Amino acid sequence: MALPPAEDPRFRTGDLLDRHGRTARDLRVSLTDRCTLRCHYCMPPEGLPWLEDSAVLTDGEIIRLVRLAVTDLGIREVRFTGGEPLLRKGLEDIVAATARLRTPDGRPVRTSLTTNGLGLARRARALAAAGLTRVNVSLDTLRADRFARITRRDRHADVLAGLAAAAEAGLAPVKVNAVLLRGTNDDEAADLLRWALEHGYRLRFIEQMPLDPHGSWQRSDMVTADEILAALQREFTLAAQPGSARGAAPAQTWDVLDAAGARVGDVGVIASVTRPFCGDCDRTRLTADGQVRTCLFSTTETDLRTALRAGADDAALGAAWRAAMWGKLPGHAIDDPSFLHPTRPMSAIGG
Ligand code: 5AD
Ligand code: SF4
Repeated sequence: MALPPAEDPRFRTGDLLDRHGRTARDLRVSLTDRCTLRCHYCMPPEGLPWLEDSAVLTDGEIIRLVRLAVTDLGIREVRFTGGEPLLRKGLEDIVAATARLRTPDGRPVRTSLTTNGLGLARRARALAAAGLTRVNVSLDTLRADRFARITRRDRHADVLAGLAAAAEAGLAPVKVNAVLLRGTNDDEAADLLRWALEHGYRLRFIEQMPLDPHGSWQRSDMVTADEILAALQREFTLAAQPGSARGAAPAQTWDVLDAAGARVGDVGVIASVTRPFCGDCDRTRLTADGQVRTCLFSTTETDLRTALRAGADDAALGAAWRAAMWGKLPGHAIDDPSFLHPTRPMSAIGG
């Protein structure tokens, strides 16, 4: 009889490996499925059926699983996401506990936060003091009226203030994530880049992925990486970064050159749909309710919360996580006719 996967002797020790030769080094932890915005491509106006409080991991449970991932499973980088992770009151404590961890070879863990920036102005210093390395702030437009339309909240100025505070607090490099939407903000690629260069923010465009709550994503609505690059090249000179095989980094990055050929910054494009990087993916994900997902697009999850609350020890939790990783599929197969839209939206998985 086959062993239940977590009891298979292969999963007793070691890093998170899958059967396609990949190793997870980057853990994304969603701290809540709730959000302070209602971006059209992510949530309906009324929000979503939120997780019950009792289903959400406590700060202590999150810290325990993050510690396990870093000390036993080979994780070197931890990114906190949501929903909106700043909604989590214990965020500074979770960050501080994570920043104190060391990998088995004695290196500190890199920590980052993917946030919509609301409330970041008030908390950037405390987060930096807690040991946060850097932030990724989502901002799709420079125009307050468009921001209100995309996010259904009139909070553009708060995001700009959050960005400034993050830079001031040394949460560098401050990265900005932008999603371009056809007919809404797809004329802003060059403006966004000019603005980011002026402020010293590193801009990353993300192709819109089929993760909307209503399943209405259409490939033809998506602004592709090629279109974004063409728009940028009308106003800037871009040069492929020397030796920029992108490895596990999802963004392909270009140096931005001025008229004299001097480098003034860079820009990235995350072409998850048109140029998938699944073969180099080094991520594993933990949802706010304690489920391991090996991919944004997974259709299955591994429940660590139930095991944790039933008193499982680190060895058992580690084995369950390794077994989950072993089952990671080779790619998201968005282009495959059999592609299934994930059963949870982005806000409940973590970006
Ligand atoms: N496709 C691409 N990016 C998305 N985000 C949210 N939903 C999608 C989607 N369907 C982005 C947000 C934020 C980050 C967490 O993910 O804009 O920058
Ligand atoms: Fe909130 Fe991010 Fe979703 Fe916008 S995309 S509603 S900021 S979780």
